[in-house]
Amino acid sequence: MKRNHRQKPLVETIEKHLQGNPISFHVPGHKNGLLLPEKDRNHFLQSDLTELAGLDDLHDPREAIQEAEDLLTDLYGTLKSYFLVNGSTVGNIAAIMATCSPGDVVLVQRNCHKSVLNGIKLARAIPILIETEWDADGRIALGVSLEAMKETLKAYPYAKSCILTYPTYYGFTYPINQIIEELHKYDVTCIIDEAHGPHFSIGSPFPTSTINLGADIVIHSAHKMLPAMTMGSYLHITSSRVNEQKIKGYLAMLQSSSPSYPIMASLDYARSYLATITQEDIRSNINTIENFIGELEKVHPQLIIKRTHDPLKIILQFEGRTGYELQQLLESQGIYTELADSNYVLMILPLLKNHLSFPYTAAIQRTNLALKNEPILPVTNRMFAGINERISHFTALSLSFEEMENKEEKMVSLQESEGEISSQMVTPYPPGIPLLIPGEKISKTAIEQLTYLIENKANIQGHHELDEKCVYVYR
Ligand SMILES: Cc1ncc(COP(=O)(O)O)c(C=O)c1O
Repeated sequence: MKRNHRQKPLVETIEKHLQGNPISFHVPGHKNGLLLPEKDRNHFLQSDLTELAGLDDLHDPREAIQEAEDLLTDLYGTLKSYFLVNGSTVGNIAAIMATCSPGDVVLVQRNCHKSVLNGIKLARAIPILIETEWDADGRIALGVSLEAMKETLKAYPYAKSCILTYPTYYGFTYPINQIIEELHKYDVTCIIDEAHGPHFSIGSPFPTSTINLGADIVIHSAHKMLPAMTMGSYLHITSSRVNEQKIKGYLAMLQSSSPSYPIMASLDYARSYLATITQEDIRSNINTIENFIGELEKVHPQLIIKRTHDPLKIILQFEGRTGYELQQLLESQGIYTELADSNYVLMILPLLKNHLSFPYTAAIQRTNLALKNEPILPVTNRMFAGINERISHFTALSLSFEEMENKEEKMVSLQESEGEISSQMVTPYPPGIPLLIPGEKISKTAIEQLTYLIENKANIQGHHELDEKCVYVYR
């Protein structure tokens, strides 16, 4: 069949989205360009250059990029900070590959981002998955506990490195300084996936960055919380435990040889934006957020707002509706949120400076419109069951990467998959945290969670067999 090449499906879909005058409560942190000066918003194509004289080379910086990276290093007070043009994804993978050799044991938080598990696989290391704590309702995964880390280290005192997520996607922190201290007692290199915390360097009322809590490598998705373009991230080396040349080598290997100048320029912009935030900016931003939360709380008696440890992240719950349903209601009025899960919707608020404005008033008006037809119901507590079972503080995979490569797969119904070994990574996106990991035994809880997600049409990347409630396992 002859295709119509006048069509530009992606261009047209983006245009349509923008015509709806959307309000962004999601990444990237520049909020549809609102946090960039007007003159810079539409100039990205013009800054899409290449390694011309004076424009330097990301993989061997000596001029403008070096200066920009030096300023980044200075701002965060690190030993060496790098620009990344392929997200924290490449930062995580490079950090793991530079600190682990094949066969090394790597401790990893069970609810890590998929790039962490991919990095461990590429490094041919052996992951030990540490279970996380849950909030009081067992519905939001938090960080790992010191107790879990101590137990894991007792079992694997020879672990080479550990990679933890701090803060969580939902904006929760945990006493990570004690965990880092414990890891260092065993000489374990501590990599922190701080993708969601590049703004923590501002200080109170934001949590403390692990750069200041003794971590060895810290990775930041600048694009998530700062006004940087998507894929713009930072990698920071923060201790002499780390071999700088190895990191540099892997970054050069894993990133494009034609790094995007618009992304790099936006990283430079984001660093400067962060460095010039004043106490007055912070105070007024926090006041604006407090007012916004106060107004949201008045919209509907069933709309509940939960605060997190990061003032820029708030969680919305609507009694009687799933998070997916609430997200759809908000989208019907052009309010786009970061993610929905069975119970909640996550909103990412802007890191606003005093002279900038954000359509908070419109957001409240639209939330009113979105929820005005929602009847006031008795509380049904129609929430997805929390996680109550804890089998152990940590688990190892049931098969090594080599064993997995030589094994055949089969498809089984999800209901009958308990105890089978998953051969696929099944990752709801966002948040990009795998529910099933290749080589891991499938638990009853994972089956329940996955069934619920499928029934609620959550976005699960690339697994069409899941529509039929089937999964692939090893024979
Ligand atoms: C905790 C965490 N780490 C790493 C990543 C990957 O970051 P990026 O999108 O910058 O590649 C994400 C993305 O959502 C994330 O949530």
